[in-house]
Amino acid sequence: MDNLLSMEYLNTTEIYKLIQRASAFKNGDVTPCSFDDKFVANLFFENSTRTKSSFLVAEQKLGLKLIDFETSTSSVQKGESLYDTCKTLEQIGADVLVIRHSQTTYYDDLENLNIPIINAGDGSGQHPTQSLLDIMTIYEEYKSFDGLNILICGDVKNSRVAKSNYQSLTALGANVMFSSPDEWKDETLEAPYVDIDKVIDHIDIVMLLRVQHERHDDSEVSDFEVSQYHEHFGLTQSRYDLLKDHAIIMHPAPVNRDVEIKGSLVEAPKSRIFKQMENGMYMRMAVIDHILQREGATAK
Ligand code: CP
Repeated sequence: MDNLLSMEYLNTTEIYKLIQRASAFKNGDVTPCSFDDKFVANLFFENSTRTKSSFLVAEQKLGLKLIDFETSTSSVQKGESLYDTCKTLEQIGADVLVIRHSQTTYYDDLENLNIPIINAGDGSGQHPTQSLLDIMTIYEEYKSFDGLNILICGDVKNSRVAKSNYQSLTALGANVMFSSPDEWKDETLEAPYVDIDKVIDHIDIVMLLRVQHERHDDSEVSDFEVSQYHEHFGLTQSRYDLLKDHAIIMHPAPVNRDVEIKGSLVEAPKSRIFKQMENGMYMRMAVIDHILQREGATAK
């Protein structure tokens, strides 16, 4: 793994290795390598709380030095391209770049870079570290993916989390289903679309997706009714009450409370939403560690 761009490029052996490494960091079973001779830049062209903060903590726990970069004060504001921005940071001494950008597959423009890229989310394309932290959270719960029934519910078309998780969870042997309003279906993904009320009592995991208002055109926004969405596709109290005893709730967050999920259920016993965020920091440590080890860094 030279870069982490899409879950398409990770095989299941690599996924399991990353779960093991992240779990070892979490359980204190290994002392993190110190990459204190390495520099990282985090380039977030879209807003973020969880991904950016957990990368920052992961990088600091691994001893990396941070190159300060904010799009709002950078020469991006003077029209500098993404490629020129990244090439500049490479020349200045960055050893790895973490990038979130609104352009789907922005990384196609960066093929001539000589340093690794970790994709922190590209438009409605992929969010591989989110998928990996979700997989780690599921593994902690079930110790296997084989035959798990997973319902991914909501704005599938605009969600990079849905695409990354569909690919990785299917490859790992889970049965992935979607539930979505017609206008938010993505027919390029081969999982079946089901009625949430027909499956809610026999699924193992319900993964709710954030409604991606920022990616909707005006017609989709005008059609959107919060109360109707919650009633038809959201996790209501009555749906929660039908879940199996061992079933869990996931959501990549940020959560639109009372839209995708009733607000009071965000921290319900079956919710793993904040556990996902905790795991995200350890998984991002594992990803950086893996990529920089490949780059020839040595442990102290
Ligand atoms: N889940 C996620 O990507 O959250 P942020 O947008 O806050 O990083």
